Amino acid sequence: MNVLVVGGAGYIGSHCVRQLQTAGHSPLVLDNLVYGHRHAVASDIPFFDEDLGNRHAVAQILKENNIDVVMHFAAYAYVGESVTEPLKYYENNVGNTIQLLLAMQDAGVTKFVFSSTCATYGVPQSLPIVEDLPQSPINPYGQTKLQVEAILKDLAAIGKISSAVFRYFNASGAAEDGSIGECHDPETHLIPLAIDAATGKRSALKIFGTDYPTPDGTCLRDYIHVDDLSRAHIAVFDQLEDPKAFVHYNLGTGRPTSVREILDAVEKVTGLPVPAEEAPRRAGDPPSLYADNTKARQGLGWEPQHMDIESTIATAWKWHHANPDGYAS
Ligand code: UFG
Repeated sequence: MNVLVVGGAGYIGSHCVRQLQTAGHSPLVLDNLVYGHRHAVASDIPFFDEDLGNRHAVAQILKENNIDVVMHFAAYAYVGESVTEPLKYYENNVGNTIQLLLAMQDAGVTKFVFSSTCATYGVPQSLPIVEDLPQSPINPYGQTKLQVEAILKDLAAIGKISSAVFRYFNASGAAEDGSIGECHDPETHLIPLAIDAATGKRSALKIFGTDYPTPDGTCLRDYIHVDDLSRAHIAVFDQLEDPKAFVHYNLGTGRPTSVREILDAVEKVTGLPVPAEEAPRRAGDPPSLYADNTKARQGLGWEPQHMDIESTIATAWKWHHANPDGYAS
């Protein structure tokens, strides 16, 4: 397949590009480099420094390169910022996605793979989270993803664009060979911050909330390796052949891990203490989010390879150790 990876210079997109190559597909990358990194994409991959909202330019790229499938990873994803600047999120995550879908229609491209999130479930009614739980986001970021899901469902119903929606849990880790990894600016995610605290690059890690109704009082999350996420995106291609297909899957390990357990695992993997201090809860954090991944395992023949949190953190450590300043290194 010729696959246009929109946001292919970002964290998850760049890992997916690697997996597409490994599986024998031909990825091309479109990224405006606002948050993406040019060095995250190998020089032999066709690269378009373009904005996904530029309908006519994108349609041209789709046509000229005989694109079969569009994968869409390009979104703003800071939950806190989405609360203070909602229009920025609706404009990019919804508005520009509509432009991308229009460009696909212009070019006659009919297959779409979309990055959604467990944030669409809000505070889930039950755990582990199954796909048919009510979706009720508690922040604009989750709301933008849910709105795109609704648009995709409507497009599939009329046979215009078939789509696969993946609701990610906590994407983590880095490529096994240490060549690409997680590099956000600003960084807000637990594992990279804990590694930076261990190496002394940042000050003590703040544990946001120690009074949650969880076994050790800290939040439970489901940390899924970024390569495992990526593999699911490729396993779904067959299902997109039906023009009315609209499929959706949770992508998680199914295993809850607490913040304290992450810090212990980082200490074990790095051999360094993680200085940490207790802090108040962070606004908008649900106590527990972890997946029931039965549907993805059965529907895609997909199995996460990194079921042990230490193996995921070991890949993150390899990347951070070799690249203490991320791609600037
Ligand atoms: N945490 C800390 N200290 C920190 C950073 C995080 O204690 O310095 C805690 C958080 O409170 C949370 C856990 O570590 O309990 C994980 O936090 P992350 O920021 O790494 O990840 P989130 O679970 O908040 O976010 C992820 C995705 C988002 C998505 C969200 C859905 O990164 O894109 O899940 O809830 F929207």
